[in-house]
Amino acid sequence: MSPMSARRPTVAPLSLADLAALTSTVADEVRAGLHEVHADAQSRWHVRLRCDDQVDVWLISWTEDQGTQLHDHGGSSGAFTVVSGELSEAVWTPGAEVLAESPRSAGDSVVFGEHYVHDVRNVQGRTAVSVHAYSPPLSQMNYYDVDGHQLTRLASVWTDDPEAPAPDLRAAS
Ligand SMILES: [Fe+2]
Repeated sequence: MSPMSARRPTVAPLSLADLAALTSTVADEVRAGLHEVHADAQSRWHVRLRCDDQVDVWLISWTEDQGTQLHDHGGSSGAFTVVSGELSEAVWTPGAEVLAESPRSAGDSVVFGEHYVHDVRNVQGRTAVSVHAYSPPLSQMNYYDVDGHQLTRLASVWTDDPEAPAPDLRAAS
């Protein structure tokens, strides 16, 4: 075994089906009151519920107009389930080279592989709550901008926190 392969994680990543089942199950736990939820209009509230060699799970609340920047999740696949409220998800669609925006309502689950580029935002007045999972656990995020039909990477950061403030994209671009 080479030194490189020896450093690889020994735990296989979760499948997309397992990721969706996980976020859906944890969303049910949140609805049942098993996890405390807060909201912060100044900075998107989030807490990590689980982190091991295989997966990390986050509980996030979104007050009105809170959202991410257009990003991917490095080499991680993932899933999210909306617990309550409604989110708007804009997904970069390769081939069509457009951002396609869809509402994600309470109970909806979305799964995605690596290279998935999206922007999630609460455009409703009511606070939204969602559960997110990443496998392998999140270690990198890339941030993008769209100019016409062109996707441009603005910045790449190593992080284990999907809610860390995005870098100053204008300075990074
Ligand atoms: Fe994301």
